[in-house]
Amino acid sequence: MNARQATATAHPNIAFIKYWGNRDSRLRLPLTGSFSMNLAALETCTSVCFDEDLVADCFDLNGVEQGGESLTRVSRFLDQVRALAGQSVYARVSSANTFPSGAGIASSASAFAALALASAKAIGLALPEKDLSRLARLGSGSACRSVPTGFVEWLPGEDDAGSYAVTIAPPEYWDLVDMIVVVDPREKPVGSTAGHSLAQTSPLNSLRVAGVPARLESCRQAVLARDFSLLAEVVELDSNWMHAVMRTSNPPLVYWSVDTEVVLWHVQAWRAQGHALCASVDAGPNVHVIALAEEQAWAEERLRALPGVQRVMVSQPGEGARLVEQEVK
Ligand code: DP6
Repeated sequence: MNARQATATAHPNIAFIKYWGNRDSRLRLPLTGSFSMNLAALETCTSVCFDEDLVADCFDLNGVEQGGESLTRVSRFLDQVRALAGQSVYARVSSANTFPSGAGIASSASAFAALALASAKAIGLALPEKDLSRLARLGSGSACRSVPTGFVEWLPGEDDAGSYAVTIAPPEYWDLVDMIVVVDPREKPVGSTAGHSLAQTSPLNSLRVAGVPARLESCRQAVLARDFSLLAEVVELDSNWMHAVMRTSNPPLVYWSVDTEVVLWHVQAWRAQGHALCASVDAGPNVHVIALAEEQAWAEERLRALPGVQRVMVSQPGEGARLVEQEVK
């Protein structure tokens, strides 16, 4: 067999309704469904080449050869791709992010969505979107939501076969922006993979989980009806529930900094003045300010002027994972 190569791109996503905690952490079967928007301005591009001359998998990220946990996670993922294809050949994976690494933006979603598509194609698997989403989920839960286009819901499912993401509306359906307000670009001390396993230690976890179906329904309705007030209410409530669970876990996970609080306080004050803005925070201190596109210039200027704000990156809704045509060498 000759070396076989494919390249794919994918965007990260911001969850409007969060994924936090697994029923099965090996298969990444989540405790609840979740809902997100792909972020067009940020992208991961990944090439995979299966090559019989290789004696092990190798992986470079932004031109830097990776080892340790980073390589192990990619290699374990490729094991699942090889198992699906009934093959045992190793691969070289080359990946690059168009967004600055160390900017405090999680990239596992775009990374595993692009890797799933490129590796499946390179090894000769023709997977429908649903199965590609399931495959990406095995690498990183939120990656399953970066496979379909636009506004996306991850159906939690009963088992591996039923847990995948689907498009609820295409990217052009609603002119929203995500202003990613970076207050601290450093890597967080407890990543989301470790964090998920602490969810069940919080006495608030079962209450959060019980409320998710109703919040998902509101979120779906808000997006389909382009109802920003409803979206703002449910996005902030859901983010606060996740952080309440995190803070009351054992050991507690506190991701917000003083600068996070300042941004959140202002977003709420500005909304009270009538601006269509709301905020959501993932497993880190940076704040995603979701807004109607017409608010962007006004809000961006004010966000940049807040104390502690290092940069603001702006993104429109984005497409799903796509193959990139490449010249044959
Ligand atoms: C807080 O998908 O990063 O961003 O499956 O372990 O890779 P792994 O976790 P990950 O978790 C995302 C957590 C979150 C919320 C969300 O994106 O829904």
